Amino acid sequence: MTETPPFYDDLAGCLAEAWRLLEEGAAHQSGFHTPALATLGRDGTPRLRTVVLRGVDRESRTLRVHCDARSDKAAEIAADPRVSLHAYDPKAKLQVRIAGTALLHGQDAVARAAWEASRPMSRICYGTVPGPGTSLPAGGAYAQPRDEEAVEAGFSEFRVIVLRAARLEFLYLARQGHRRALFTWDGDAQGATWLAP
Ligand SMILES: Cc1cc2nc3c(=O)[nH]c(=O)nc-3n(C[C@H](O)[C@H](O)[C@H](O)COP(=O)(O)O)c2cc1C
Repeated sequence: MTETPPFYDDLAGCLAEAWRLLEEGAAHQSGFHTPALATLGRDGTPRLRTVVLRGVDRESRTLRVHCDARSDKAAEIAADPRVSLHAYDPKAKLQVRIAGTALLHGQDAVARAAWEASRPMSRICYGTVPGPGTSLPAGGAYAQPRDEEAVEAGFSEFRVIVLRAARLEFLYLARQGHRRALFTWDGDAQGATWLAP
């Protein structure tokens, strides 16, 4: 039988392991690099898409994702900031589900710092015309910025989503028995409990 990891029967250890994998995901090193982000559609339906995890700060319980101001997800967050994020790392056999509220940053210091830190290749997307989600007469009927000035102009459409976790659910799959735990934050009140898997 495979050995159990150190966090197996340790609630605080499970939380630390979740944040560690999320941090590694933001640094490209774990299966948590491309989680799914859920928003509430304007018609109340759940909307889900893959995103790249760009930054994680366990102290403030925040996760950072980038998007285009013209995208549906930006409009949905502006209308209702409640979001969820899901990630599964098959190698670690670990799923994390986070729920919280998202803040959109555009043309401020947070957005500028994220823009400066992103690769030129990533910046190009924000200068695409027409904006994401627009119907096209043909698959290639859109234009991308051709020079540095046009790429830089895309900053006006660049948005940083900062998700603050109010709830984090942990699930570790193990032959010996799965481990599921729930962590919650409500103001100063913190909760942590095991759940039946
Ligand atoms: C691997 C991968 C990574 C992606 N990363 C992002 C991302 O970081 N930000 C983003 O806005 N869209 C990203 N996308 C595209 C979204 O999944 C989605 O198709 C697009 O943003 C439109 O979503 P929306 O209409 O719900 O706003 C990514 C897609 C894939 C497949």
